[in-house]
Amino acid sequence: MDNNAIGAEDNVIIARELVKVYQMGDIEVHALRGLTMEVKRGEVVSIMGPSGSGKSTLMNIIGCLDHPTSGDYILDGEHVSKLTGDQLATIRNRKVGFIFQSFNLLPRMSALNNVELPMVYSGLNRGRRERARAALDAVGLADRIHHRPNELSGGQQQRVAIARALINDPAIILADEPTGNLDTKSGKEIMELLLSLNREHGTTLVIVTHAPDVAEQTQRVIRIRDGVTEAQL
Ligand SMILES: Nc1ncnc2c1ncn2[C@@H]1O[C@H](COP(=O)(O)OP(=O)(O)O)[C@@H](O)[C@H]1O
Ligand SMILES: [Mg+2]
Repeated sequence: MDNNAIGAEDNVIIARELVKVYQMGDIEVHALRGLTMEVKRGEVVSIMGPSGSGKSTLMNIIGCLDHPTSGDYILDGEHVSKLTGDQLATIRNRKVGFIFQSFNLLPRMSALNNVELPMVYSGLNRGRRERARAALDAVGLADRIHHRPNELSGGQQQRVAIARALINDPAIILADEPTGNLDTKSGKEIMELLLSLNREHGTTLVIVTHAPDVAEQTQRVIRIRDGVTEAQL
């Protein structure tokens, strides 16, 4: 691909030659070896690859949880690789919504409070409760807002996580095995919900998955092997 295309404005994710080396005592682990990829605004992409190929490392960088050792990462026009820890946290809270295999809800908090949390972190107070209610309504949980996670099914917990991921209107949603802990029926419903968000609001989705039937529903599959995309091999 030529460089003009990579720099195009409609790419919400531009990652160039990402290298990540973990230092473990005397040993260097090369988790990413110059990985280049981009994702267009409004696109639905899945990331597949064998265990140890670098998917989580890539997700951590794309999600602004970690810096690459070298390489460039531009998220929604922001040059992320140059930011300090605090700036990285701010960008992450504003631009990224996370969905995890294990839901990662806070157990002592109601669904409503869980969904409010990203707004608490970003200092958004006005209309917070109402926005959280509306987000839970949008994922079909209007009648469960005062339930705690352990009073909800897995599928319902993942809906809360989706409402939480969307609440700050992020540039991208990153989902790491979003259906991995769900039964087939709930998994299908969660995929349908995610895809409907894309259809109705143009939400950009990046989904790490082992499941071929999940990848099949996305517009493009990026396959990773040994720290680069298969297209780079
Ligand atoms: N924090 C870490 N410290 C050291 N090595 C790590 C760390 N995280 C991942 N690795 C190593 O980096 C490689 C890629 O791991 P990972 O990104 O988790 O792959 P995947 O998610 O595709 O299974 C593996 O060899 C793994 O052991
Ligand atoms: Mg992983």
